[in-house]
Amino acid sequence: MQLSQELLEKLIDITTRSAVACYPYIGKNEKILADKAATDVMRNQLNKLDINGEVVIGEGELDEAPMLYIGEKLGNGNGLAVDIAVDPVEGTNFVANNLPGSMSVIVIANKGNLFNAPETYMEKLATGSHIPNECLDLDFTVEKNIQNYSDVTSKKLSDITVCILDRPRHKEIINELIKLNVNIKLITDGDVYGALAVTDKKYNIDIFMGTGGGPEGVIAAAALRSLKCKFQGRFLFKSEHEIYRAKKMGIQNLNKKYEINEIVKGESIFCATAITNCELMNGIIKKNDKFITETIVAFKKSNLELVKKDVSLT
Ligand code: FBP
Repeated sequence: MQLSQELLEKLIDITTRSAVACYPYIGKNEKILADKAATDVMRNQLNKLDINGEVVIGEGELDEAPMLYIGEKLGNGNGLAVDIAVDPVEGTNFVANNLPGSMSVIVIANKGNLFNAPETYMEKLATGSHIPNECLDLDFTVEKNIQNYSDVTSKKLSDITVCILDRPRHKEIINELIKLNVNIKLITDGDVYGALAVTDKKYNIDIFMGTGGGPEGVIAAAALRSLKCKFQGRFLFKSEHEIYRAKKMGIQNLNKKYEINEIVKGESIFCATAITNCELMNGIIKKNDKFITETIVAFKKSNLELVKKDVSLT
């Protein structure tokens, strides 16, 4: 059975409500409480849907957040069998510190169509729909990827912008980018946003690269696939425990490079409601007893669609 427009509208309502649940915690240095508020609302609302859902990407060991756990059944069990990826608060530090970039996110695909990713890091590479498949590759050097991008787009290296998380583990990549005279957009958190920024020239990001959360990689890949953008990911394991869990989830080849079609299959719905502002959408505004929200959606469209919504919690 196909994913429907009706389901999409219900999901927009759910991420809107889970985002709004965080509103009291914006700038309150309470990231766990913000995450819990959004998680509780998301679980509650998803359980009202006519779906037979299972969480395949949840929150968990990476940040010990209150979680919608992998394997949790959601929905009233009566409808379409679906895989669900949830990130009730993507960018918990942003909410805690009232900084731009936080959002509440859900992805849904037909059962078996979303990769069951372990709670580990993932090396990621994303670029726009206009770039040929073979142009960028996780196995190429940074220099080769940038040079290939420059060749196919005829952009000078100094006009190319790469978005990457500001982390010590990226020192070598960042130094290489500086040497190449490429523009660097460093983000302190929120690499779902970083990957989504390649979807449209107006965000002025040519390439997203670097290592971030694996679950966030799968979530971003779902949106990018709907928009025909390019993405590759490879899991990185820090401990024997992570390797054990990955093997238990059926991952045999730990070094495998995943193409976007292996991460998400068929159709998927991606919905993300801004909690605080970001370049893609405005954060929540409270006006009297109403909350004015913006949600981006990727479903059967070649661009991210922006949906504005007013909700009242009463
Ligand atoms: P949270 O919202 O769960 O705090 O995640 C934020 C985030 O920046 C993700 O966007 C990113 O994938 C991951 O953390 C990076 O992890 P780390 O902070 O360990 O580098």
